[in-house]
Order: sequence, then C-alpha cells, then structure tokens
Amino acid sequence: MYVTRRQAFVGTGITLAAATVAGCAGYGDGPTQSGPAEPAGPAEPAGTAPSGGAAIAKVADVPVGSGVIVGDTVVTQPAPGEFMGFSSTCTHKGCTVNKIADGTINCPCHGSAFNLDGTVAKGPATRPLDAKTVAVEGDSIVLQ
Ligand code: FES
Repeated sequence: MYVTRRQAFVGTGITLAAATVAGCAGYGDGPTQSGPAEPAGPAEPAGTAPSGGAAIAKVADVPVGSGVIVGDTVVTQPAPGEFMGFSSTCTHKGCTVNKIADGTINCPCHGSAFNLDGTVAKGPATRPLDAKTVAVEGDSIVLQ
C-alpha cells in the first residue's frame, strides 16, 4: 500500500511540474493572455492536465482495489495510480449504489454488483455504470 500511494504522488508531481511549466510559458506571452485561447505548447495526455474541475476526493482516500462513493460519483482505483469515475446511479432501475466491498460496487435495491471498472459483476443490471471523467490534480481527484 505504501508503495502504491508513493507511486500516485510521483505521478502527481509530474502533473504539477507540467502545469507549472505551462503556466510560466503563458505568462511570458504578454497580450495574448487576454485574447482568445492561446496555444499552450505540446498537448498533454488526457486526464492529466489541470482542468479547474471540482475536487471530489483526496487521492489518499481512494484505496487500491476499492474506491469511494462521493455523492453521485464513484471513484475507484483498480490498480495503483489508475483512477476511474462512474455515476453512482445503478443501471438496473436507478437506485444509488451505496457500498464498495470485496472488489465490487454494490447496489442495495436488487443486488446488482459492478466491478471496479464499472462493468457488471452480478445482475440484474445488464450494462455498466455510466463513466465519468476524473483526473488526479495535486493530492485530489477532480471531476472533469
Ligand atoms: Fe440497482 Fe436494481 S436498481 S439492482
């Protein structure tokens, strides 16, 4: 577990360094800051660029091999440093999933269970949880 969190922070540091470089580059451009969107240099990989989205959880609060439910969003960490987001609305009849245990996201209404990647582990639900895009920013998980 310790190594896992350390790995997550290492990845976060890279993201922050990239953001800092991009931010500094923007300051040197003078008047273009007030104009329309300016080119920000090389494109960053999806899910790592600062989005200004809402922080919904701390990275340290999302266990590897499990996850957390925050309001209408489920955040999981199926593998170290790999975070996934989903709607907490069960795809069977619309109840709210309310528990993550033993590697599944569970719905209390009719017993559906979903794997940490959102796919159906056990019916009656027949389709995966709806995906939401989340990213690591600093020590937080941000909903984009
Ligand atoms: Fe979730 Fe039926 S609404 S199992």
